[in-house]
Amino acid sequence: MLDLEANPIIPVIVLDDANDAEPLAEALLEGGLKIIEITFRTAAAAESISRIVQRFPEMVVGAGTVVTEKQAKEAIDAGSQFGLAPGTDPKTLEIFRGAGIPFIPGIATPSDIQAAYREGCQYMKFFPAGPMGGVKMLKALSAPYGNLGIRFCPTGGVSLDNMEEYLSLPSVFAVGGSWIATKQDISEKNWKIITENATQALSKI
Ligand code: 3PG
Repeated sequence: MLDLEANPIIPVIVLDDANDAEPLAEALLEGGLKIIEITFRTAAAAESISRIVQRFPEMVVGAGTVVTEKQAKEAIDAGSQFGLAPGTDPKTLEIFRGAGIPFIPGIATPSDIQAAYREGCQYMKFFPAGPMGGVKMLKALSAPYGNLGIRFCPTGGVSLDNMEEYLSLPSVFAVGGSWIATKQDISEKNWKIITENATQALSKI
């Protein structure tokens, strides 16, 4: 069973070109990050996941922004080891559950949390963390659910400057963000910068 708590910094990735998948994964691994979230915001997602899974077995590969049943099936077929979404959708959750692969649904309100918990989820993505009220909001939001073992991964507005504050909350198991490998750095193939960003983020925890 995948230990979702083993990697507390999750780089959120948007890849336009699957040819960038392997050098990107290599850059992150070199910086010490062993987890990656490839978002289904581009047509290159499934192919990128599959290439990283095959080439780097030491990396935990997740599919992000999985919002349709078709994407859920593609993500699983590509070899994803976990899935995430900005919201909670019973249909996609069912597909991942059927495949025995963990899914981290997105939540932003108490009703969202309870809907995700009802679906059997204990790990949830707090999205969009910054605009929703950041650390203060997450602290208040998670308070009633401590005894249920519900834990959160804030994403959306998380940065090198505020990640520690989020991670200091007992209810937070990880943070996610695009700052480690930005779309621009990927398109310019700035692999060295991405490695440095990964190292720098890990040095803070
Ligand atoms: C996500 O889907 O997790 C977010 O788009 C990442 O947000 P960020 O770009 O603010 O890090």
